[in-house]
Amino acid sequence: MTARQRPYRRRAFPGAGVLRAENRAVRIRTAGCHRIPSADRRAPGSRPPPPRPRTARHGTHEERSMTQQPPPAGPPDLPDRVVEVYGEHDLSTVPAFAGGFINFGYWAEPAGPADRPLTEADRIRSEQDLYRLVLGTFAGTRGRTALEVGCGRGLGCALALREFGLGTVIGLDAHPDQIARAREANAELLAAPDTAGRLEFRLGAAQALPLPDDSVDCLFSVEAAQHFRDLPGFARESARVLRAGGRLALTTFFARTPAAARALPELLPPYADGLDVPHVVDEVAAELSAAGLRQVGVRPIGEGVWEQYDRYMAQRPQLRDEWPRRYLTAYETGLLDYYVLTATAG
Ligand SMILES: C[S@@+](CC[C@H](N)C(=O)[O-])C[C@H]1O[C@@H](n2cnc3c(N)ncnc32)[C@H](O)[C@@H]1O
Repeated sequence: MTARQRPYRRRAFPGAGVLRAENRAVRIRTAGCHRIPSADRRAPGSRPPPPRPRTARHGTHEERSMTQQPPPAGPPDLPDRVVEVYGEHDLSTVPAFAGGFINFGYWAEPAGPADRPLTEADRIRSEQDLYRLVLGTFAGTRGRTALEVGCGRGLGCALALREFGLGTVIGLDAHPDQIARAREANAELLAAPDTAGRLEFRLGAAQALPLPDDSVDCLFSVEAAQHFRDLPGFARESARVLRAGGRLALTTFFARTPAAARALPELLPPYADGLDVPHVVDEVAAELSAAGLRQVGVRPIGEGVWEQYDRYMAQRPQLRDEWPRRYLTAYETGLLDYYVLTATAG
């Protein structure tokens, strides 16, 4: 069976269905999740709608009391599929990921001979190493303030605090369940005398960062931007919150060309079912520049991502014949790559 033919058995990542009942028992309420209006669900390559003024959704206090509408207490606009995958399904618990991280991982070197079985510890290290690669792009981190956009369970924030000498790390995620999980997973660090007050998790969206202007030195995002509907908004917000000279580092998978962006939904279900958007890498870089960020750099790192990820999948009976192995096909046929984008503010 070729990778392109691998079946698409379920809408969710393989294994998600099995875990759903378990997750339901510990499920945290997702009240307040809103749909993105259908007009915002853009065709790949089309221009985004003009940004809504921030006050338009929340309204003034007077406007709200006149209409008796409470201010929105839940997360920012999120597509239904994103709400479902990071809420009820809890993607971090499916076997393709490990250790609470939710990324494809980075392997600077193949993990030994091709027939050596990759362990779950290997897989977790790859997910941590993706964070190390991104955080390593920041020249100086000691005592600095960092923001992660799309922090998931916040394990990368904890790594950033522990290993990079940062003064403060703020983990931001648009899904309230993820913020609750991040607080739970990092409860010790949040309470320990030397780290309390230096790590925090906040609900908020990439396109409307709940932070003051010029308040962040290092802004990073790991495998989250494929979900962002409003990339220009994210770029503008990043430029706003970064101090002059502050640095941005963003890593995830993007389409290599507009034609690839059109082809990807046929191969990979997350593009077809509304979880991911096939952003084109050059367009993402152009948005960062258009927002006023300088020295925008694009580094493809797929060579260190897809082969070892696929090897991990291939060695597991429950993953061997599943559609996520088509990511390697997409990489090898030139449709997508994994990238690190860097930029400087001011
Ligand atoms: C694939 S997970 C990555 C989590 C973490 N960075 C990691 O590597 O383990 C993507 C995360 O992005 C969050 N997310 C999706 N859309 C977002 C948005 N517009 N703003 C902020 N976070 C968002 C999701 O809730 C999810 O937790």
